[in-house]
Amino acid sequence: MSERRPRLGIDIGGSGIKGAPVDPDTGAFLAERVRYATPAHSTPRAVAEVVGEIAGHFPEAAGGPVGITFPGVVQNGVVRTAANVDRSWVDTDAATLFSRLLERPVRMLNDADAAALAEAHHGAARTTSGVVLLTTLGTGIGTALVVDGRLIPNTEFGHLEIDGHDAETRASSGARNRDGLSYRAWATERLQRYYRMMEDLLWPDLIVVGGGVSRKASEFLPYLELRTPIVPAQLRNTAGIIGAVLAVG
Ligand code: BGC
Repeated sequence: MSERRPRLGIDIGGSGIKGAPVDPDTGAFLAERVRYATPAHSTPRAVAEVVGEIAGHFPEAAGGPVGITFPGVVQNGVVRTAANVDRSWVDTDAATLFSRLLERPVRMLNDADAAALAEAHHGAARTTSGVVLLTTLGTGIGTALVVDGRLIPNTEFGHLEIDGHDAETRASSGARNRDGLSYRAWATERLQRYYRMMEDLLWPDLIVVGGGVSRKASEFLPYLELRTPIVPAQLRNTAGIIGAVLAVG
C-alpha cells in the first residue's frame, strides 16, 4: 500500500450509490465496497443521507478528501443537468453540500468522466495514446473523452439527436430492457447506428464500453461493424469509485 492515506470514492448512479476506500496510487480497493439503492425520490437531501451512511462505513478514510461522481454535468462542483435523477439537483452546489455533510474536501465529477479516468489509468485504455472515447451503457448513455491521458470533461454525447431521438432513449441498456430487445437486435438496430455516428464525428483511436451491461460484451460487441477498435471496460462496476478518487488528485 502507498504512503498516502486511503481516499473515499463514492459513485452516485440512477439505481445505486456505491462507495469504498481506495489506494490513490494503485487504484486498489482497501475494503469491500458498500452499495445502497438510490432513493426512489432522488433529491439532494435523500441522496446526501445515503452518502453520509456510506462514509460512516469507512472510518479509515475519515478526514481525507472524497471524490464523488454524479450522473449529470458537473461544473466546478455545481450540478448542471439531471437526466436520470431528480430535477431538483440542477444548479445544486453538490461539492459544498457534501463537503459540509462529510466535513472534508469533496471533488465532484460526472460519472462517465470518472469511469474514463479509471480506465485510462488502470483499465482498458491504459496503453492507448491519442483519443479514447468511453461510453457507459446504463439507464442513460454517459460519454467521456480522454486525449493523451487528459480528460475533456462533461461531453454529453449520449444526448446526441439521432434520427429525431435523444440517442440514449434508443441505444442505452435501459432502452434495450424497455423494448425487450435481444443483445443481437440491440447491437444491430441501435448500437451500430450510435457508434458509427460517434466514430464519424470524433474519430477516436479506441472506444471503451462500460456500464453494468459491459460484462455481457461478448453478446453484443461482435455484431458491431466499426473502423475503430471497441473493447469492454475492464474495471466494471468499480470504475466510478476509482475514477472519483483519481479526480481528487
Ligand atoms: C447524463 C450524463 C451521464 C449519463 C450516465 C446521461 O443521461 O446526461 O451526464 O453521464 O446519463 O449516467
